[in-house]
Amino acid sequence: MNKQTEPFLLDASVAAESTPQVGISRPHESAHLHVAGTATYTDDIPELAGTLHAALGMSAKAHARLKSVGLDRVRKAPGVVAVLTVDDIPGVNDCGPIIHDDPILARDVVQFVGQPIFVVVATSHDAARRAARLADIDYEDLPPVLTPEAAHAAGSYVLPPMHLTRGEPARQLAAATHRDSGHIRLGGQEQFYLEGQIAYAAPRENDGMHVWCSTQHPTEMQHAVAHMLGWHAHQVLVECRRMGGGFGGKESQSAMFACCAALAAWKLLCPVKLRPDRDDDMMITGKRHDFTFDFDVGHDDEGRLEAVRVEMVSRAGFSADLSGPVMTRAICHFDNAYWLPHVQIDGYCGKTNTQSNTAFRGFGGPQGAFAVEYILDNVARNIGKDSLDVRRANFYGKGERNVTPYGQTVEDNVIHELIDELVASSAYQARRAATRAFNAKSPVLKKGIAITPVKFGISFNVAHYNQAGALVHVYNDGSVLVNHGGTEMGQGLNTKVAMVVAHELGIRMERVRVTATDTSKVANTSATAASTGADLNGKAAQDAARQIRERLADFAARKAGVTPADIRFNDDLVIAGELRLPFNELVREAYIARVQLWSDGFYTTPKLYWDQKALHGRPFYYYAYGAACSEVIVDTLTGEWKLLRADALHDAGKSLNPAIDIGQVEGAFVQGMGWLTTEELWWNPNGKLMTHAPSTYKIPTINDVPEGFHVRLFQNANVEDSIHRSKAVGEPPLLLPFSVFFAIRDAIAAVGDYRVNPPLRAPATSEAILDAVEAVQAAAGVPA
Ligand code: MTE
Ligand code: HPA
Ligand code: MOS
Repeated sequence: MNKQTEPFLLDASVAAESTPQVGISRPHESAHLHVAGTATYTDDIPELAGTLHAALGMSAKAHARLKSVGLDRVRKAPGVVAVLTVDDIPGVNDCGPIIHDDPILARDVVQFVGQPIFVVVATSHDAARRAARLADIDYEDLPPVLTPEAAHAAGSYVLPPMHLTRGEPARQLAAATHRDSGHIRLGGQEQFYLEGQIAYAAPRENDGMHVWCSTQHPTEMQHAVAHMLGWHAHQVLVECRRMGGGFGGKESQSAMFACCAALAAWKLLCPVKLRPDRDDDMMITGKRHDFTFDFDVGHDDEGRLEAVRVEMVSRAGFSADLSGPVMTRAICHFDNAYWLPHVQIDGYCGKTNTQSNTAFRGFGGPQGAFAVEYILDNVARNIGKDSLDVRRANFYGKGERNVTPYGQTVEDNVIHELIDELVASSAYQARRAATRAFNAKSPVLKKGIAITPVKFGISFNVAHYNQAGALVHVYNDGSVLVNHGGTEMGQGLNTKVAMVVAHELGIRMERVRVTATDTSKVANTSATAASTGADLNGKAAQDAARQIRERLADFAARKAGVTPADIRFNDDLVIAGELRLPFNELVREAYIARVQLWSDGFYTTPKLYWDQKALHGRPFYYYAYGAACSEVIVDTLTGEWKLLRADALHDAGKSLNPAIDIGQVEGAFVQGMGWLTTEELWWNPNGKLMTHAPSTYKIPTINDVPEGFHVRLFQNANVEDSIHRSKAVGEPPLLLPFSVFFAIRDAIAAVGDYRVNPPLRAPATSEAILDAVEAVQAAAGVPA
C-alpha cells in the first residue's frame, strides 16, 4: 500500500494498514444532482393532491397601531380560499428562539415594514400573492426607532447590556504612552441564500403535521409549530433533505414560515406551501447585525496595546431573536488573535423598528474581530509602522500572554507560524514595497495591501447546544444508511459524515447513503450552526458506526476463532486471521445469526463551561486559525477598485475532505468580501428597506474573484480530540477578507502619504471610498 496516500490516519480504532476514507478529497455527495438539476429542494417535492399556496400580507409601517385590518377585498380576490390572522392561531403566537417576543402574525401593533399581519391561502402561488396586496389597513402611526444609534441614545434594547472587563482599563488608558479613539461603522448583510425561505405542511391522521422546511433547525421548527398549534412535539414531524444555502438565515427565522404554512394546513385540512418571493423574503427576515463601535485605546511605541475600551452597539431589530448570543460572540471575538491585557467591552443590542436581525456566518464573531483590526490598523499608521508588525507584536503568546478576556486559555495557538508561512508564500514584503513604489508615481490609481489574521472559537456559546445524535443502519445487503441531526446546506456535511461512517466500518464511501434530516429519526437536535455540524454529527455517527463494527467484529471473531481485536475492516473486506470475507457477506451472515445491524450514536463536546452573566469560562472547545493577504487597486477619482490578488492560508486541522474545505474557505472569503465592500442595506427615512432585491443589493459574482486567488489549508492537527483531529471550517474563513477592506484602506491612505487614518466605513462601497479619499485629502492638506 502506498503510505503517502494516508497522511491523515490518526485514529487507532482502525488498523494501521487500512485504506483511509477520511482526509481525502471527495466530491460533494450531491454534486452530480446539483449540476443536473435533480437535487430535490423543498419546492421540488412533488405536490400532494389538493395543495394550496400561501402568501403573507405585510406591514407598510415601521411602527404603528393596527386600527383596523380590512380583509374583504383579499377574501374576494380570485382563487382565494381563506385568509388567516392572529386570531386563528389556536396556541401561542410566538416563534422566538430564546425570548418570547417574536409574534408569528402581528396583533394590534406592527413593529417593522414587512412584518407579517395575515396569511392568504389560494389555489395558486400567484393568486395568493396578488390577493395579499389588497388589504385595507388603517394604521395609527407610532414613533419608530430606525437606527442603533437612536436606540442606544434612547436606552432602548432587546436585552440587558453586557459588560466584560479585565484588569484596570481606565487606569492603564490614563497612563498609556499613546492614545487614540474613534468611531467605526460596520454594515449588516443579507444572507442571500439562493433558495429562499420555504415551508410545505401537510396534515396527517390523528392530529399530526408533516412539515418539509428549508431550515437549519428542524427540531426548533417542530417545537414552534407544536406551540403554535397547542400540540405536543410528537405530533409534528419536520423534514429537510437539503437547503440551497442557509448561512444562518434559516437557523431561527424559518420558524415564521413553518408556522404559517402549518397554521393554514391545520385550519384547512389540506397541504399548504408557503414560498415567499425574494423581495418579500428580504423585507421580512433578519440579517447580519450592523454594528457601531466607539473605542479608546492606549499603546506603546511598538504599537503594543496597553489598554482598550470598546462600546459595541448592534442593530437587533424589533425582537431579540439570536441577538444575545450574537453579541456574546462579538464580545468574545473582540480579541481576535491578540492579547489584551487591560480591556473593557460593553455590548448593547439596540431595539429598532427594522427586521429582527439573526445569525449570519460568523454570528457576531466577524463584527467583534473587525473592531480590533480597525483599531490596530489605526495604531500602526499613528506610529508609522507596517500594520503586520503591529499585529504580530500583539499576537497571543504561547504559554504566556495567552488568556482571553473571557478567561479561556489559548492552548492551540498557531497564528505565528501560520502568518510566517503566508508572509513567505504571498511575497508580502516585496509586494508591499512595490505598492509604495507604484503609489509614488501614480497620482490617481493607488494600490494597497494588507494581511489580517483570524482566530475563531468553535462551539455553540450556549453550552447545552453542543450535543448531537445519529442513527446508522446496515442493511443485510451490506449497504449503509445514515441519519444524523445536522442539516445539509451545501457545506458538505453529509459528505463528511458519510466518509466518517465509511472509515469506521472499513468500507467504501459508495456503500453509504445519507438521508434527509428528520425529527422522527433523531430527536432534540441542535441547529446546524456555529460551524459545529461535522464536529458534532461526525462524532455521533462515528459512535453509532463503531458500535455496529464492534458487534460485527465479535461475530467474525467467533467464526474465525480469533479475538475481536484481531479483526480488520478495510476496503470492503473483513479480515479475520486466515479468513477474508467481503463486508456484505459478513453482514449477511451476521443478520442470519441475529446480530443487531443498526445503532444510534451520541456525542457531547467535552470541557465546556460558561457563565453567561459574568461572560467567563471556556465557551470554545478549540480555535480555528487563518490569515489572508490581499492586494487591491483603487481609483481615487471614481471610488472603483479591484482585488488584484488574494492569498489565504486556513487551518482546518486534519481536514476531513480538503476539496470541500477549500471550497468553504473560497466561498466564505468571497461572501465576507461582499459584506465589507459592496453589500449595503439601506432603509428609507420611513424605515422601509429599499435594497430588497439583487437589483439594488450588490452581492459578489464570479467577476469579483481575483485572478490570483490562492487558497491553501495550513497543515495542522487539532490538539483536541475532534473528529479525526479536523477543525470546523464553515464560518472562520469569513474573517479572511478583512484583508481586502484594510488593503483598500491602505490604498486610500496613500492619498495622504500614509499620515492620516482614512475614516473608511464598511461596506467600503465606491461612495464610502470617495468620502474617505476626500476626508484624507482635507486632513492631509493635499489638493483634491
Ligand atoms: N456553506 C454553504 N455552501 N451554504 C451555507 O449555507 N452556511 C455556513 C457554513 N458554510 C453555509 C455554508 C454557516 S453560517 C455555518 S454555521 C456552517 O456552514 C454550518 O455547517 P457546518 O457546521 O456543517 O460547517
Ligand atoms: N452560533 C450559532 N448559533 C448559536 C450560537 C453560536 O455560537 N449560540 C447559540 N446559537
Ligand atoms: Mo451559522 S451563522 O452559525 O448558521
